[in-house]
Amino acid sequence: MSKVDILLGLQWGDEGKGKVVDVLTPNYDVIARFQGGPNAGHSLEFNNIKHVLHTIPSGVFHPGCINVIGNGVVIDPIIFAQEIHSLEKLGVNLRRTLKISKKAHLILPSHRELDAASEAAKGKGKIGSTLKGIGPTYMDKTGRNGIRVGDILAHDFQERYQFLKNKHKEILRQYNYQSNIEQHEEEWFKGVELMKEYDLIDSEYEINKYIAQGKRVLAEGAQGSLLDIDFGSYPFVTSSNTICAGACTGLGIAPGKVGEVYGIFKAYCTRVGSGPFPTELDNEVGEKIRQIGAEYGATTGRPRRCGWLDLVALRYAIMLNGVTQLIMTKPDVLDTFETIKVAVAYRINGAETDRLPYDINAPIEPVYKEFKGWMREISGFKSDDDLPDELMAYIQFVEQETGVPIKIVSVGPNRDETIVRE
Ligand code: GDP
Ligand code: IMO
Ligand code: MG
Repeated sequence: MSKVDILLGLQWGDEGKGKVVDVLTPNYDVIARFQGGPNAGHSLEFNNIKHVLHTIPSGVFHPGCINVIGNGVVIDPIIFAQEIHSLEKLGVNLRRTLKISKKAHLILPSHRELDAASEAAKGKGKIGSTLKGIGPTYMDKTGRNGIRVGDILAHDFQERYQFLKNKHKEILRQYNYQSNIEQHEEEWFKGVELMKEYDLIDSEYEINKYIAQGKRVLAEGAQGSLLDIDFGSYPFVTSSNTICAGACTGLGIAPGKVGEVYGIFKAYCTRVGSGPFPTELDNEVGEKIRQIGAEYGATTGRPRRCGWLDLVALRYAIMLNGVTQLIMTKPDVLDTFETIKVAVAYRINGAETDRLPYDINAPIEPVYKEFKGWMREISGFKSDDDLPDELMAYIQFVEQETGVPIKIVSVGPNRDETIVRE
């Protein structure tokens, strides 16, 4: 009997989950995505390959590793097919190793239009969604109208599709939205046919079988804890539970079967889309982080908002997830910063607090602690002993403030640029 380890983002997404899952995959037999969908963009770099995955788990570049798309994920067959084809071009064939839960829900072309219509109607209050149809698809799931992967094998799949599409068209009419669904249908159904060539499974049984067999399973999160539907900065969140508990419902594993929880965070913060961001640097410092860190969305190409590390938010995410090991990414982006700041508390209406306020519009003034920058290039470093004292002081401060050890420090986008600490 083994346990399922979970790797998830502790900030607003894009913490480097894809890179680190790829680094950790040799320690695992199975990598399983448990929530989100093609709103995710997980970047992997090794040899001369740079690749971005959206729906497919980040273990695919290790031959023999089983990759599971769990029931908590939402899948767009068009994007799924594009991902499969671009992996095939790289010589990666997943026919035998990729398994898809029959209970995962499908994103229809009309879901994407509903997403766009809803955002347009919100005007200035828009969420800043990736417009991949995520919200409307999860709404149909909880509203008990959704179409699941297993349904593509049903004799009346076409009717079910048409029924839901017509329902969506009604809503789109109310939005006065110029619908163009039919233009995407052929490609969508081609994607559905391609999905049938893969192993469509009852993933909860499979995952629990792997656990019983002692196989090592790593659950890969998408987005980040501050985008969680329950605990994120609502309504500026995604539509799934991105926290640890989401892995239980998104894969069908009991809480007692959870092993290590790897919480990944950047040495600073980024956010893409609307919503509060207390430590945001809407100035040349933020711009410098964006340029050096190449902080542009892996899915949408949008510039990411940048700011200092926020320990109030990080401690909150660690609490929600029961993080047992921390992973810090991208400190190398700060190589040329003379001073590095970290928010240790918030000041709200004159009072200091170490909690995230319920009211997301509360005027938050971060209370910063300053650190001396290391002013040295760290990307080539291979072990803890190489790291500059100033960075070690930064690492130790985060460990002390969170009570959780930082076990991995990522110092560059490449697979090799990773320090595993003793
Ligand atoms: P994910 O969504 O959590 O998988 O993260 P993304 O792939 O969206 O964004 C992370 C970006 O940072 C990608 O471009 C990665 O290639 C890159 N990256 C990951 N780790 C590091 C690191 O330690 N240093 C630097 N400089 N870049 C990194
Ligand atoms: P990965 O897995 C960063 C953000 C969007 C928007 C909000 C809602 O790569 O870390 P949605 O499309 O879900 O309706 O958008 O969530 N968002 C992400 N931000 N990384 C992601 O995924 C994200 N997925 C969604 O920008 O603010
Ligand atoms: Mg990303």
